[in-house]
Amino acid sequence: MPGKKNILAVDDSANMLELIRRILTPKGYSVYTVSGVAQAIKLLQEIDIDLVITDIRMPEIEGTELVRFVNENYRNTVVLVITGYPTIETAVETVKLGACEYLTKLFTEQELLEAVQSSLQKLRNREIGNARFEGLPLLQTGLIGGSPGMLKIYREIDKASKIKATVMITGETGTGKELVARAIHYNSSQASAPFVPVNCGAIPDELMESEMFGYKKGAFTGAYESRGGFFQAADGGTIFLDEITNTTPPMQAKLLRVLQEKEVYMIGCNKSQKIDTRIIASSNSDPEVLIKKGIFREDLYYRLNVIPIHILPLRERGDDILLLANHFAHKYSEETIKSTPEFSDEVIDIFLNYYWPGNVRELENLVHRLVIMTDEPVIKTPDLPKILRYSVNPQKKTFGSLADAEKEYIEQVLAFVKGNKTKAAEILKIDRKTLREKLK
Ligand SMILES: Nc1ncnc2c1ncn2[C@@H]1O[C@H](COP(=O)(O)OP(=O)(O)OP(=O)(O)O)[C@@H](O)[C@H]1O
Ligand SMILES: [Mg+2]
Repeated sequence: MPGKKNILAVDDSANMLELIRRILTPKGYSVYTVSGVAQAIKLLQEIDIDLVITDIRMPEIEGTELVRFVNENYRNTVVLVITGYPTIETAVETVKLGACEYLTKLFTEQELLEAVQSSLQKLRNREIGNARFEGLPLLQTGLIGGSPGMLKIYREIDKASKIKATVMITGETGTGKELVARAIHYNSSQASAPFVPVNCGAIPDELMESEMFGYKKGAFTGAYESRGGFFQAADGGTIFLDEITNTTPPMQAKLLRVLQEKEVYMIGCNKSQKIDTRIIASSNSDPEVLIKKGIFREDLYYRLNVIPIHILPLRERGDDILLLANHFAHKYSEETIKSTPEFSDEVIDIFLNYYWPGNVRELENLVHRLVIMTDEPVIKTPDLPKILRYSVNPQKKTFGSLADAEKEYIEQVLAFVKGNKTKAAEILKIDRKTLREKLK
C-alpha cells in the first residue's frame, strides 16, 4: 500500500490507546491518539487521517457522534468502532451511521490488525471508485479499465490498428468485443471509411448471402435493382462479423473464399469484384470447441485468427469493476440531470465478488437502473436486485429471526432454479406440498 497510513485512535482509556499504539506502530502505521471526540475533531482538521478507531462509550461525547461526523465530512476517512458492550443493536447502529467495521473489546492483536487492514481496503476501494480514469494517452478507445488484462487489450488494439490483418475477438457476452473492434477501426488509417457491423446470428439463412454480397438486377424474383451487400458497403473500411460462429456451413465456405481471394461474387453475377475490406470477427463461445464439434470450419478459423484478441470476463478484472461502475454512474446521472450517487462500502464489496455473467453490459444496465430508481446520494445494499444481495459475504449480514432466514433461503433457492418448484423442493429436501405451504 503506497504511503504511510495515518490512524487516529480515540478512547477515554489511556491503557487502550497505548495498546492500540503498541500493536499498530511496528506495522508501519502512524498512530495519533486523543482521549475524546472534541480533540478528535480538532485533529481531523489538521491532519489527513485515513482511519479513525473509536470507542463508543465515552464520558463527554459519545463515539457515535464521531462516526456520524466523519461520515458526513470526510469521504476519504473510514471508521473502525470498538465497543465494550457487544450488543448487536450498537453494532448495527454504528454501521448504519457509517462505520465500516466494528470490533469488541478484549480483541486479540490479530483481530485488530485484520480489522484495520479491512477498513483501509474499503478506503482504497472508495478511492478507486471516485477516481476518473485517465485511460491510455495514445489511444481513443472508449474503453475503461486499468487492470493488466485491459492494458494487454490496449496494446493489442494498437498493434491491430497499424496493420490490415484479420482479427478474431473472443470473450463472453457483454465483455466489449464490439467496442474493441470499433477501437481498432477508428485508430487505423481506414478510420474515415465505414465500419459495418453485421450480426451473423440475427440474419435468416436464406437472406444471408444477398445481405453479405449483394445481388444483380434480375438475379431472383423481386430483384428489381442491383444492390450491394455489407462487403461492398464496407469497402475501404472494416466489416465486423459479429458472432461469426453462428453462420451456416455454406456461408462459412463463401467467407473462406472471400478471405483467400479478396473478392466477392454478387448473386446473379459470375464476375467477381475485388474488395479491400478489413475483416474483424467475433465469437462468444470458444471457436476451438466448436471446431471439435464440427460446427465451425477449422480452415476459416485459422484464416481469421491472424491477430487473436481474447477479452477477459469482468469478474477477472479486479478494480476495473469499480472504475466502470463509477463511470456509468456519472454517465447516467448526467443524462438524467441528477447528482452522481456513490456506492456504499458493502455494495462495493458485492460488486467485487459477484460473478457478472452478463459482464460489462450487465453492470452498465444495473447502474443505469439504480441511477433512475434511487434518489439517495449513496446506493446501499437494499437498493440492489435480489441476485446481487444474496451474494453478500455472510459474516457481514445482520441477523434476523429463524423464520426470516428460512424465507430468505427459500427465495434464494427459487431464484437459483428460476422458479422451478420441483427442483427447489429437491434441493431443500422437502416435498412440494411442504414447499407450497411455506410459500404461502
Ligand atoms: N471496457 C469498457 N469500458 C466501457 N464500456 C464498456 C467496456 N466494455 C464494454 N462496455 C460497454 O458494455 C456494453 C457491451 O459491450 P459490447 O456490445 O462491445 O459487448 P460484446 O462483447 O460485443 O457483447 P455480445 O457478445 O453480447 O455482443 C456496451 O454498452 C459497451 O459500451
Ligand atoms: Mg457484440
